[in-house]
Amino acid sequence: MCGIVGAVAQRDVADILLEGLKRLEYRGYDSAGLAIINGAGELTRTRRLGKVQALADAVHTYPMPGGTGIAHTRWATHGEPSEANAHPHVSGDIAVVHNGIIENHEVLRRQLQAQGYVFTSQTDTEVIAHLVERELKTASSLLDAVMATRTQLHGAYGMVVVDRKQPERMIVARSGSPLVIGFGIGEHFVASDQLALLPVTRKFAFLEEGDVAEIRRDGISVYDLNNQPAEREAQESTVEHDAGDKGEFRHYMLKEIYEQPQAIANTLEGRLFNGQLNLEALGDLSGIEQVQIIACGTSYHAGMTARYWIEGLAGIACNVEIASEFRYRKSVVRPNSLLVTISQSGETADTLAALRLAKELGFSKTLTVCNVPGSSLVRESDMALMTRAGAEIGVASTKAFTTQLVALLLLTAALGRGRGMDSATEKRLTDALTHLPGLIDKALGMNADIQQLAERFAEKHHALFLGRGDQYPIAMEGALKLKEISYIHAEAYAAGELKHGPLALIDAEMPIVVVAPHNDLVEKLKSNIEEVRARGGELFVFAGEAAAIEPQSNMVVLPMPACDDIIAPVLYTLPLQLLSYHVAVIKGTDVDQPRNLAKSVTVE
Ligand code: G6P
Repeated sequence: MCGIVGAVAQRDVADILLEGLKRLEYRGYDSAGLAIINGAGELTRTRRLGKVQALADAVHTYPMPGGTGIAHTRWATHGEPSEANAHPHVSGDIAVVHNGIIENHEVLRRQLQAQGYVFTSQTDTEVIAHLVERELKTASSLLDAVMATRTQLHGAYGMVVVDRKQPERMIVARSGSPLVIGFGIGEHFVASDQLALLPVTRKFAFLEEGDVAEIRRDGISVYDLNNQPAEREAQESTVEHDAGDKGEFRHYMLKEIYEQPQAIANTLEGRLFNGQLNLEALGDLSGIEQVQIIACGTSYHAGMTARYWIEGLAGIACNVEIASEFRYRKSVVRPNSLLVTISQSGETADTLAALRLAKELGFSKTLTVCNVPGSSLVRESDMALMTRAGAEIGVASTKAFTTQLVALLLLTAALGRGRGMDSATEKRLTDALTHLPGLIDKALGMNADIQQLAERFAEKHHALFLGRGDQYPIAMEGALKLKEISYIHAEAYAAGELKHGPLALIDAEMPIVVVAPHNDLVEKLKSNIEEVRARGGELFVFAGEAAAIEPQSNMVVLPMPACDDIIAPVLYTLPLQLLSYHVAVIKGTDVDQPRNLAKSVTVE
């Protein structure tokens, strides 16, 4: 989704801004632009539809010198993807970049048009540029003009404003869309994600909800929601500088799939050692009687899997809901309920809104399972269980998902201790987790076979994924991966539901992927497999050896490493990730930045 980078420096900043935008490309976007105030006091602007590289080429052909600049990658919400709708938007001397959505933009647009302002785009953002321009006529400073502007805006924004006449400063404001300030020596930066600024600084301060800040070369001044001066502590970033580097891999997605053994080991570090779980850092969860999980997309599938564990292993009632549904319905909160949000980015607008609603509804505690330190969900939740997957660049989530599953197993153990989970089960869980990174490594060894298998999907238009029990959400995740990056329509079904509809779809053109570890449900699953075979379906079964599922006509069986049932959902995710990756490569789609999708969905 949209990305922001800004800089106030003595040196030329165009290359810094362009590099920042490139590092935000993974978020998904359709156009890009930048505006720079040069030494002659002119405001220059370049925008391009399509990739940041097209913008960089334009800037190299027509250089844009100057030490103060703002840049943006846009993911269209209001108005089609086009050069005219790309940011920055300009009004007189003012230029603005904005993430989020201004909900009352139509009313504001009409008011401004009545006052003679001419609009050159269909965006909601352009009203901000005109409003700041108008307020600056009476305000005592650019900061005051932005403060006055934001009282008129309804909706979500992270924005950066510059004034051609005041190249020594930029004003930034945050409400619902993250912004981070980067500290240099004699220069300062701003971005929607610290990853954009890692080549120039490792020292960051995260703005809080409602903050406005003035950023100058020599310092920053932050003001809170009530326009009162506020301190926002600068911290050293722990994110690796080369997190945005593909290394030997052709795509970020493949790199991130291969990082899973290490990422999972990182998730477990300090939380599992000497064969013991160390869960003290999770705080006291002993009084919890009910768990409500909220998430979107892949994170929602992690939540669905966790429900099987929390109810099945910890013996605690658990509901799971998509954030965009939860936030708009009336729900009943039982006493001693824990709200758990799950999110890679920690910035997903619906999940954040659901958390805020949950606090109003009176959940006893809120906990987030999250991958980004300092993100909004981490800051606004009572407790955070960090997944430590490292930066995930591919839009299709891989290592973030499996580390979420591991973190949720740890949470299950913490909830279950002294409750539904006896010490033998905890021991089983601990042993299973200890072996998990090695098992994931083994599963990656299936890559070449899966690459071959992928050939058989590339020409298909539909695919079905089947699983039962805690493998049903894994089938859903497999189907989501395939549709996200290869654009093949894919659906997942709990295999027991086959005869209630999807069997009608089965023919030779419909590949059916089945996840079949050896567990209590495998005999039932075998019957489901027969139901499909009897109707001429072509099956691809990932099966535990002990499940004794033999290859037959129309049925390929790929043996999976043996593992404890508890961790099977994590392990069986791997071949499905690899399958979707190879199908997408064969089809030639944009694996890391699939069309129309964004990595971090910061608008509703
Ligand atoms: C987008 C991403 C998905 C992700 C979902 C939720 O749709 O493309 O990969 O699962 O958002 O994001 P979150 O950051 O909250 O996990």
